[in-house]
Amino acid sequence: MKTALFAFVLLFALVSQPLLGAAEASPDEVVDTVGKLLRAGVNYNILLSMPYTNSRNPKGLGLSKIGKSCPLDVVVVDRYHSLPLRFIPVNPKKGVIRVSTDLNIMFPPNITCPHHSTVWKLESFKVSKGRSLSLVSTGGVKGNPGRETIGNWFKIEKYGGAYKLVYCPSVCPYCKHVVCENVGMFVDEKGNHRLALSAVPFQVKFLKA
Ligand SMILES: *[C@@H]1O[C@H](CO)[C@@H](O)[C@H](O)[C@H]1NC(C)=O
Repeated sequence: MKTALFAFVLLFALVSQPLLGAAEASPDEVVDTVGKLLRAGVNYNILLSMPYTNSRNPKGLGLSKIGKSCPLDVVVVDRYHSLPLRFIPVNPKKGVIRVSTDLNIMFPPNITCPHHSTVWKLESFKVSKGRSLSLVSTGGVKGNPGRETIGNWFKIEKYGGAYKLVYCPSVCPYCKHVVCENVGMFVDEKGNHRLALSAVPFQVKFLKA
């Protein structure tokens, strides 16, 4: 009887330990518009809604040449003109995308700027004297987490029954001046609807391309 009890306790310890450990370590998986797990390296269209547009008429994301020749900038477009995107987790061995995890986000290669990557990267933009904001451009580096690539990492967080994109990198714990911000929109003086860091986030969903 004693042996049986001991065996049971031992078995319970063995079974429960890894389960508890796993539950603590991994944040929730992100799901797409049909409830399937978001996968690394698979193409999705990001549907943007609220508060900039209503959710029945979501927008998409595209690339545009604004101001400079290359790299291309990320712009908000009609969803039927949106380009697919893929997510690459900071740990490239992970096949599933989870919330609160550092990610590279990239478009497929674009022949307009063949010598620049299509990996998202923040770029500083001077709005007026002494005031600047961060816009989402491309030309970033895939992987290589650390100080050098601090502007290349984004995260997906839960938001209002869907998700939002944020800039809040964890890839450089000792980097100063990393302020977490939402990914929203900035309309520049020429009327370009540019993806930018903002107090107000877009609500986003992921539609498998
Ligand atoms: C390539 O970039 C241009 C902007 O220069 C954009 O209009 C076009 O949609 C992009 N195409 C692809 C396939 O990424």
